[in-house]
Amino acid sequence: MKHKIIVTGGCGYIGSHTVIALIENNYDVVIIDDLSNSSDQILNRISKITSKRPTFEKVDLKDIQATNQVFEKHKNADAVIHFAAHKAVGESVQQPIKYYQNNLYTLINTLAAMAKHHINKFIFSSSATVYGIPQTLPITENNQTQRPFSPYGNTKKIAEEIIEDVVRSNTKMLAISLRYFNPIGAHESGWIGELPSGTPNNLMPFITQTAAGLREKLMVFGNDYPTKDGTPIRDYIHVVDLAEAHALALKRLLDRKVENSFEVFNIGTGEGYSVLEIIKAFESISGVVLKYEITERRAGDVPQLYADINLAKEKLGWTAKRGLKEMISSSWKWEENLRKNKNQLY
Ligand code: UFG
Repeated sequence: MKHKIIVTGGCGYIGSHTVIALIENNYDVVIIDDLSNSSDQILNRISKITSKRPTFEKVDLKDIQATNQVFEKHKNADAVIHFAAHKAVGESVQQPIKYYQNNLYTLINTLAAMAKHHINKFIFSSSATVYGIPQTLPITENNQTQRPFSPYGNTKKIAEEIIEDVVRSNTKMLAISLRYFNPIGAHESGWIGELPSGTPNNLMPFITQTAAGLREKLMVFGNDYPTKDGTPIRDYIHVVDLAEAHALALKRLLDRKVENSFEVFNIGTGEGYSVLEIIKAFESISGVVLKYEITERRAGDVPQLYADINLAKEKLGWTAKRGLKEMISSSWKWEENLRKNKNQLY
């Protein structure tokens, strides 16, 4: 019998790539998504890539009754991977209540519905933002977490604390939190990728949109950081590698190989690149000269963030297989496809 996995937010950027990885690993997938920041066209793309169409439930997980109903319908699920959340750092500073309401209600309702229906394996989509300003680099999972700068980041930190408490209270419950560094890239087919609504917050979609002529120029937020070229360093991770990390974490839960009922893993490459290095690499891979300007620092940015990835390697048997070149070329291919087929796609 195939394992059945519920994926909340499965139509989103990381969720959709993970759904593909799960189907490729022979799982039955049920996506729960309210489509607030995605499109059901993604389902066609997933079936085009995998030749399988996941079950889809359009449900807002803030609605506790609807959440219970959908979990009742799929109570034979073996595990839940929870991506559903708002993710724009800047917007969360402007609208904190929207973020706390959405990201925490959806989590709590999901955990409550899981308990009610005796589903007791959970993977959480977390972020390196929970480390705040790191005291030591590379960041290991033992680094103290700190209150993140943004309400978005704080929802991730609070969520981990909620999950830990829930796991402690229920001897059957097992959970893994994956702390992502900077996910970029797209599926190699060029059929699914990141679809930022409005002006992108993150570096890579801003770069590809600038190169495609949608934005006039890229603003580089500060070049006076204590780094090799003055611009901040991040650990960029290919979204397909990230998706594979979820499949391995799921296997660890299903095989009951966990050593603690609540485990956390950093998911990055362990290598840091500066903003200027990313710009140069993009230019050489795409052949497009990028217009950019150095501006003021962005509030809340830390100078350097890169992962110690040994724990994921040792316990999940996971390491990133794709390098910066594949991250950038797949992001660019996706952007070019979006422009070419704009009307047909979304
Ligand atoms: N940057 C620019 N110009 C832009 C966008 C970004 O110079 O237009 C720079 C930022 O200053 C930063 C780097 O590019 O130095 C990466 O910025 P991103 O916004 O792409 O990524 P962040 O590291 O800020 O954000 C990521 C995740 C968040 C998470 C955060 C906290 O996207 O979800 O890490 O660590 F909260």
